[in-house]
Amino acid sequence: MIRIVSALALAGTVAAFSTAISVSWAQTPAEVAKAREDIMDHLWPNYYRDISQVARGNSTDVAAVATKAAGAVDALKKFATLFPPGSGREAVPTTRAKPEIWSQRAEFDKATSDLIAATTAIGEAAKSGNVEAVKAQWPKVAEACGACHGGPKKSGGKFRFEE
Ligand code: HEC
Repeated sequence: MIRIVSALALAGTVAAFSTAISVSWAQTPAEVAKAREDIMDHLWPNYYRDISQVARGNSTDVAAVATKAAGAVDALKKFATLFPPGSGREAVPTTRAKPEIWSQRAEFDKATSDLIAATTAIGEAAKSGNVEAVKAQWPKVAEACGACHGGPKKSGGKFRFEE
């Protein structure tokens, strides 16, 4: 009997917990769009700029590459969760997220995971202390950004409105 009671109590706790989570995570579409824009806006200044300095031979701080790559991966994992259906321009007129994100979701998610993989690889190269390996991996990182941002000038990219 005690067992059942504590099982019920536990179930109650879990239910209360998940309610708390859904409440604290409940964001308006505008807030979700702002969160993903913030992540994208900070990718370069917070993480990739320092990585590029080493990749371009302007710095030898390989340790920074490992740290920054790990930070970028965390940010990108969060980014991937910030595209709930209904958070495009139909709800947030200022978002630059294109409808293709939702209509071609598998390709979009693959572009994110490709960037995560390329960034993880440059971090691993850095951990081995091999600057040449860091340099060799850099174009793959840039290419992975291009999967979403590339294309003809002013096109904004496959998944992003130019303005
Ligand atoms: C999986 C697709 C994807 C990849 C890969 C990607 N981005 Fe983005 N990026 C987007 C989307 C979508 C937006 C617009 C977000 C919004 O407005 O809600 C964006 C916005 C931005 C912005 C914000 C300002 C703007 O012009 O909208 C910058 C800066 C940016 N990205 C840089 C980068 C860099 C640097 C990389 C590679 C390190 C990268 N992005 C990789 C999809 C991607």
